[in-house]
Amino acid sequence: MNTKYAAMMICAAMLLAACGKDDAEQSSASMAEKAEEATDTMAESAENAMDNAKDMASNAADAVGEAADDAMEAAKDVAGDMADAAGDVADSAGEMASDAMDAAKDAAGDAMDAAKDVVDGAGEAATAAGAAAAGAMADAGGSEAAADDGDPCTIVMKVGDSIAYETNSLSVPSSCDNVTVTVTHTGTLPKAAMGHNWVLVPADAVAEIGTAAMSLSAEQNYLPEDDRIVAATELVGAGESSSVTFALSDLQDGVEYNYVCTFLGHWSAMRGTFTVSG
Ligand code: CO
Repeated sequence: MNTKYAAMMICAAMLLAACGKDDAEQSSASMAEKAEEATDTMAESAENAMDNAKDMASNAADAVGEAADDAMEAAKDVAGDMADAAGDVADSAGEMASDAMDAAKDAAGDAMDAAKDVVDGAGEAATAAGAAAAGAMADAGGSEAAADDGDPCTIVMKVGDSIAYETNSLSVPSSCDNVTVTVTHTGTLPKAAMGHNWVLVPADAVAEIGTAAMSLSAEQNYLPEDDRIVAATELVGAGESSSVTFALSDLQDGVEYNYVCTFLGHWSAMRGTFTVSG
């Protein structure tokens, strides 16, 4: 190659290098500008964001403040209403208390009146009772008082869980055509354990009839067949009663009569005398 061409090539290369240097410098400057712009943009964005945030916060604060004010006013209104309502309730209560007091006074007055009436009534009743008692005493003094207010020809004999009658002697007036005797068991034991009956027999037949009964059972009423028996109830246990009616004309003159329980072994202890008076 010749020198001239070579020089041109070198020159071209140098130019290229120079041009490339310029391009590089220009490019670098451009990048810096862009970076600066980007930085500015970012800063602006950040600023805007900050402003926005401030605005939002301010708005939120305002909103909260307003809401608080509203709530406060609402609370005031509610409190006011409640106070009014409480006042109304208090007034009502006062009125009710007053009414109740009046009602109580009225009731007390009525009760007092009623009590006076009762006292007056009692006084009248007492006076009447006194008069009646005086009359009864006068009647009693004027004539012979009957010992029993019931029928003297009707006898109720109570028995219980012991081997005993409530009385060991009975007497009926001779004016009775018929005599009815009822034996009532007021105890708790069944008749198989503590049965009782009321059997009227001549006194001199008690031991024999009582002994004969000991070979019998509760189902047989512990009652032997014997023509000397004048009258006999059924055997009764707890809560049971039995009655027998007989004519006084069945009794023989001059014979002493006994009543006896013919339950197993009771005859020796459970017996009494039966007499006709007058
Ligand atoms: Co008995």
